[in-house]
Amino acid sequence: MRLGLAPESFVERIGAWLGMVPAPLVHGFYGMAGSRVLMTALECGLVDALDRHPGQTGEQLATALCLDAAAIEHLVACLRTLAVVQTRTTRGGAAVHALSRSGARWLSSASPTCIADFLRFNAHQWRWWGELTQALEPGAAPFDLHAWSPEDIRWAEYTKAMHQLARLAAPEVCAKVPVGRTGTTLLDLAGGHGAFAAELCRRHPRLSATVLDLPGNNRVARELWAQPRIEWTDGNVLHGTLPQADIVTCFQLLGHLQRDERRALLVRMRAAVRPGGTLALMDHFASSGRDDASAFVALNYFLVARTPRLTVEEAARELREAGWATPRITPILRLPGQSLLCSRA
Ligand SMILES: C[S@@+](CC[C@H](N)C(=O)[O-])C[C@H]1O[C@@H](n2cnc3c(N)ncnc32)[C@H](O)[C@@H]1O
Repeated sequence: MRLGLAPESFVERIGAWLGMVPAPLVHGFYGMAGSRVLMTALECGLVDALDRHPGQTGEQLATALCLDAAAIEHLVACLRTLAVVQTRTTRGGAAVHALSRSGARWLSSASPTCIADFLRFNAHQWRWWGELTQALEPGAAPFDLHAWSPEDIRWAEYTKAMHQLARLAAPEVCAKVPVGRTGTTLLDLAGGHGAFAAELCRRHPRLSATVLDLPGNNRVARELWAQPRIEWTDGNVLHGTLPQADIVTCFQLLGHLQRDERRALLVRMRAAVRPGGTLALMDHFASSGRDDASAFVALNYFLVARTPRLTVEEAARELREAGWATPRITPILRLPGQSLLCSRA
């Protein structure tokens, strides 16, 4: 693994190949440091400064940001190692910095694939991961972000973070959701920012969508992403009767729910989808029989909702138990580890 971090030299590579490099150090120290460097570079305005005014020295960047020049040189060197910044020497011999191609692609606010808001939101995730040890205690309270009051300013950060990831995957995901020729109504449960609903409406001109989500989310979403064929309705998907629709989608909510909540919701979705309609579920399911990054996502869900690991096989079984036909399961390439489950009513 060349994280751009270690090992670098030929001798170090041989050492790694022979198993002499302490792999937990790479994750335990460099993983932590790399994550924090990215968050801080965004938080302090360094990424924006590099983006808007490329070709500045560390000294110039520090002056513009009112920060310590030596600290900025350190940060820039780390960002270079993470391959998001590049440095060149001018004719006059000054080292000047700019976002690299990859840095611009993923971190420039002008880029359609920017994920900077997601990394900014990491500052909150950082706090709850910082208390992982306490979260192991029986009965410890989760960091329940969905219980934030509707006025909480963190809703904007959360919703924007989710929007950036969703817009990367929406074309691929929505191409895989079967919308029959007669479908005109979409109900996107916990649809957040509405990026998936918007993409489905774009692909299917007769479709109009209702996004049912919590009031804190909707307050932000209506302001940022309002559009004619999408209506945000305040509500809790766990209570009350769901509105009827031809297509019901529910993306990235199941992992937040307890088993009984999930099962009850799947049954209520069955009642909401009109005959011949479609249900599409997508989540970052835990892998069964394989150890991979999904373990960390499952633990993230545990931190915020204290939910057990949910595999795609379990979700498919629960769908059948709720009266749905065996779902078609499709992996999503743009969101590694996520799977889409589609079933017809
Ligand atoms: C991880 S985000 C996913 C947003 C969007 N579906 C996506 O895939 O990008 C989870 C969403 O579920 C919403 N949510 C959580 N619990 C909910 C509930 N009980 N009722 C309605 N919405 C809920 C949150 O407000 C948030 O918008």
